Amino acid sequence: MKRFNLSKYVFLIGFMGAGKTTISRRLSRLCGLTSIDLDSYIERMAGMSISEIFADSGERVFRETETQALRDIVSQDEPMIVSCGGGVVTTPINIEIMKQAGVVVHLLVDVDEAASRITDKSSRPLFQDLDAARTRFAQRLPIYEAASDFTVDTFDKNTNAITHDLRRCLQHAGVLVDASESSNCRNS
Ligand code: S3P
Repeated sequence: MKRFNLSKYVFLIGFMGAGKTTISRRLSRLCGLTSIDLDSYIERMAGMSISEIFADSGERVFRETETQALRDIVSQDEPMIVSCGGGVVTTPINIEIMKQAGVVVHLLVDVDEAASRITDKSSRPLFQDLDAARTRFAQRLPIYEAASDFTVDTFDKNTNAITHDLRRCLQHAGVLVDASESSNCRNS
C-alpha cells in the first residue's frame, strides 16, 4: 500500500447519509492514514449512544459534547481525517475550530439519496421523517457551503468514485502528500 501523510486535519461535513464515515474509513485504509468519527468519539466520551444522549439530555447537551470532542481531537495536533456529524456546523465555534486546524470538505448529497442510504433511522434522532429532513437540509445547505473549503459531489457515485474524487481534491490542495515525497523534505 502506498502511504500518504496529511499536512493538516481534514474534516468531512455534510448532511446525514452523505457517507462521511464510510468515505473517511475508505480513504484512511487506502492511504494509510488515521481517521476518527466524531460521533463515535462522543459515544465513548459519554458512555452512551447518540440516541441515548438525545433522549436523556437533549440536543443542547449533545452539541456541547460535540464541541468538546472536536476540541479534544484538534488538541492532539496530529492531522487525521475526522468524519463529523451532520449538525456540526450548527454551532458556529465548531466551524472556527475546524478552519483553524485544517480543511473542511463538504460531501454533497440530496435528501432523497440520503434517505435511501440511511437504512437504520433508529440511530439518527434528527432523521425521523422526510419532511422535517427536507426543511433541515434546506436550512443547512448554505451553512455547509459557507463552512467548506471544497465540495465533493456524491450524487450517483459509488464509494470508490467518491473516495477517488476526495483523494484527488486533497492531493491537488497539497493536504494529502505522498509519504516518500514528504520524507525527502527536511527542515534546514
Ligand atoms: C446529526 C447527525 C448525526 C449525529 C446526530 C445529529 C445532525 O451524525 O451527529 O444524530 O444534526 O445532523 P451523521 O451525520 O453521521 O448521521
